[in-house]
Amino acid sequence: MNQYIKPILGAVAALALYSCGSKPAQQTPTTQVPTQDEKPTGELAELLEEIDIQDLGNDIQVFTTKIGNDPNKHNLTISFPITKESYINEAEAAFSQKFIDEFKQEAQRLGDSATAAIDYNQHFEVVYPQVGAQTFLYTRSISNGNNYDDQLFVRIYDTERKTRLNPIDLFSSPEAFTAFSKEAKKLAQEAVRKCLKSSKSFANEQEREQAWMNLQEQIEDGLQPTNENYDGLYFASNERWYLLLDKYQIASGDLGSFEIEVPEEMIVPYLDKRLSTALLLAAAPIIEGETHSAMIEETLSPEEGKAPRVALTFDDGPSVYTEKLLDILLKEEVKATFFVIGKSAAVQSKTIQRMGAEGHIIGNHSYDHKNFAKISLEEAQHQIELTDRIIEQALNQKPPYFRFPYGAYTQDKLALIKRPVIGWNVDPLDWKYKDAERVAAEMCKAKDGAIILGHDIHKTTVEAIPQVIRTLKSKGYRFVSLDELFKGKNIKPNKVYTSGK
Ligand code: NI
Repeated sequence: MNQYIKPILGAVAALALYSCGSKPAQQTPTTQVPTQDEKPTGELAELLEEIDIQDLGNDIQVFTTKIGNDPNKHNLTISFPITKESYINEAEAAFSQKFIDEFKQEAQRLGDSATAAIDYNQHFEVVYPQVGAQTFLYTRSISNGNNYDDQLFVRIYDTERKTRLNPIDLFSSPEAFTAFSKEAKKLAQEAVRKCLKSSKSFANEQEREQAWMNLQEQIEDGLQPTNENYDGLYFASNERWYLLLDKYQIASGDLGSFEIEVPEEMIVPYLDKRLSTALLLAAAPIIEGETHSAMIEETLSPEEGKAPRVALTFDDGPSVYTEKLLDILLKEEVKATFFVIGKSAAVQSKTIQRMGAEGHIIGNHSYDHKNFAKISLEEAQHQIELTDRIIEQALNQKPPYFRFPYGAYTQDKLALIKRPVIGWNVDPLDWKYKDAERVAAEMCKAKDGAIILGHDIHKTTVEAIPQVIRTLKSKGYRFVSLDELFKGKNIKPNKVYTSGK
């Protein structure tokens, strides 16, 4: 059955998290918008070199890396796109490296004794299809202990001229940008006004009016025609213009961030003509090939039925290394389970379909890898549902298992899951020791019924797998998916399982 993979992310779905009202005030994140891209430096530059972009074709893949994986310590998880264009990859890596550097500085400043561990998180969506442009929508989330503060960044490339566009480049002249900013200010005022109107935190109308007056200067500043103020302006998959305004940009933190739809007639007259008539036009919708259903029933010989079993599970993908891992698993005839991140699954839907077609199980590992012990019930629910929808769209099947990011949860979050929750009992700490030999040796310590944890975002983990398969097979082990590991076990929803024993 042919089906359209709709650009479900883009404006609407992803931004359901952002609305006026309700969120408690928090510290302002320190992140600054880089005005110039450089070549990547540091760790990402090295990792980029390992990726062969010739292999990617026109597909965009996800590069993910992390620091830390203990919910009680400082953690960072970041993703950025890998395309067939190295100028894009390098600029996105440089943009991401700055965020990593900020995290490292902050973690160092706080030290290990910090009572509140920080968590830095960066994930992206792809806005498509566009003829001559490539747009990425980033969310950066910072937690200084409790909730997360989100910041949004739109990064647009002119793929004809092979250059990144700053917000000002979208306009026909600096004067046009200034003229547009006046229109945008009116829209922002309307949005804030509406938000204050519906707010229940005022004792009387006079207080409400005072709050409105107090915000005028902030709105004025927040809509000045600078690249930083307009780094949330983009043409979405639904062919409408949006302006995303960060929390604190035009109002106090308790009003949250704003997503403002910009009517076409209000922006088009000011835009650069080439961009608005050619580049940002929607390309033909992407038609995906067959979707496959996974179930491959194996008949086992009596000896095989008795053999000790282990389940390989891979978290935090799909990533730029996942296809390679699938090649290995296919060759070795091994079935595994992938706990995927919704945001990355949306970018690499073809990889998800391949996993399904080749008999692997796909589990839900949240939308963007936030620590579930730190987010609200409402956001947790949103993370689970959005990821379910993305996987269902690729596979026609809801993910049967869930795994919490960092394995961190609270009882009220566990009650939301409505399916078995999967932990692990073999952890090679592959995010820490990026050494294939060491990772393989640790994974090979698995006993009958083990659930082995790995991350298909690390090249070294993928490189360890052939040796793990060879060694454990030679000891008589069979590699099974979680479905098979739990077959006949009657496992229950909202319960955590760390092995098949
Ligand atoms: Ni994870």
